[in-house]
Amino acid sequence: MSARSIRIGLLGCGVVGSGFVELLAHERSRIASRFGVTLNLGQILVRDGEKTRPHVARSTFTTNALDVLDGDCDVIVELVGGVDCAGAYVRRALRNGRNVVTANKALLATTGRELFDDADRRGVALGFEASVCGGIPIVQALTRGLAGDSVTSIRGILNGTSNYIVSRMEDGMTFDDALRLAQERGFAEAEPSLDVDGVDAEQKLRILASLAFDEPIVSAAVRGIRGVTGADIEEARADGCVIRHVATATRVPAGVALRIEPRRLSADDPLARVRDEHNAIVVNARATGELLFFGKGAGSMPTAAAVLSDVISIARSSQYARMTG
Ligand SMILES: NC(=O)c1ccc[n+]([C@@H]2O[C@H](COP(=O)([O-])OP(=O)(O)OC[C@H]3O[C@@H](n4cnc5c(N)ncnc54)[C@H](OP(=O)(O)O)[C@@H]3O)[C@@H](O)[C@H]2O)c1
Repeated sequence: MSARSIRIGLLGCGVVGSGFVELLAHERSRIASRFGVTLNLGQILVRDGEKTRPHVARSTFTTNALDVLDGDCDVIVELVGGVDCAGAYVRRALRNGRNVVTANKALLATTGRELFDDADRRGVALGFEASVCGGIPIVQALTRGLAGDSVTSIRGILNGTSNYIVSRMEDGMTFDDALRLAQERGFAEAEPSLDVDGVDAEQKLRILASLAFDEPIVSAAVRGIRGVTGADIEEARADGCVIRHVATATRVPAGVALRIEPRRLSADDPLARVRDEHNAIVVNARATGELLFFGKGAGSMPTAAAVLSDVISIARSSQYARMTG
């Protein structure tokens, strides 16, 4: 089979972007022979064009976003992060009729509706698998794998930082020491409130709930892990339980209710066994029953793999459209 060529413009080459570049180099020939598309990288937007980065020649980098956005790429991959610049870049790419892939949960949480409407209007795709739970293919599972079934509930450990801190507290650390260790090991930001106050988990749960249910979200109760003490963990342990930060979306009469809070779980609950920075999601669906997704919810390579899977899906679907259009 002769492979069709797809050109990718990359915005950002930090933790995830550099993983994407490395993964693409490693997987390119397999992707070409398996899917019939050759994925080529065009220019890459960075802030510091002088920094040396592995796997890419310095001439590939630009500090001018328009070099990437207004070039001849088929897919724009947004891995800059943040809301303002990233939002402007994604809007411009969509306006230019480009397919977009992003890992940016914060952007989708603030302006997702507008961006998806924009993509629909222009007949292009907006892939976002990597924006929720990094390497766990939960977006594909909900939108494609479970398309023939009715999801009744979603329950998950969606924030790896909180789970890492609770795991260290189970080992005897205080909250403050566990948070400091999470920061030293790169699992927590210097300003950790989005993670430990439950906001990040809420944003992810909102995205998952909007994919899984046709009804509106009618309530959201959000509590982070700051109030969890060593005594709470010991009391739970004495009863054969553990404490986990659990995000739940369930159908209620008027729509869907969200709860994000520390919960006591019995030791045989699948979420009780999830430790450290891992994520897990339990989906219940009427015909399928219970499904468990477990894995790395962040990190350079797992997140890059989710980004690349979206790029491949877009490349394959546009190939299909061209073949049949
Ligand atoms: N890290 C993870 O494990 C993870 C997991 C899931 C989702 N995500 C999401 O993935 C996205 C990227 O995260 P990351 O951890 O890779 O971020 P990062 O390491 O901070 O990398 C950001 C990249 O974007 C470039 N950049 C930032 N602002 C720019 C601007 N205004 N103009 C031009 N270039 C700019 C930076 O350039 P320089 O290199 O020159 O500074 C850097 O290469 C975020 O939306 C994040 O939420 C990350």
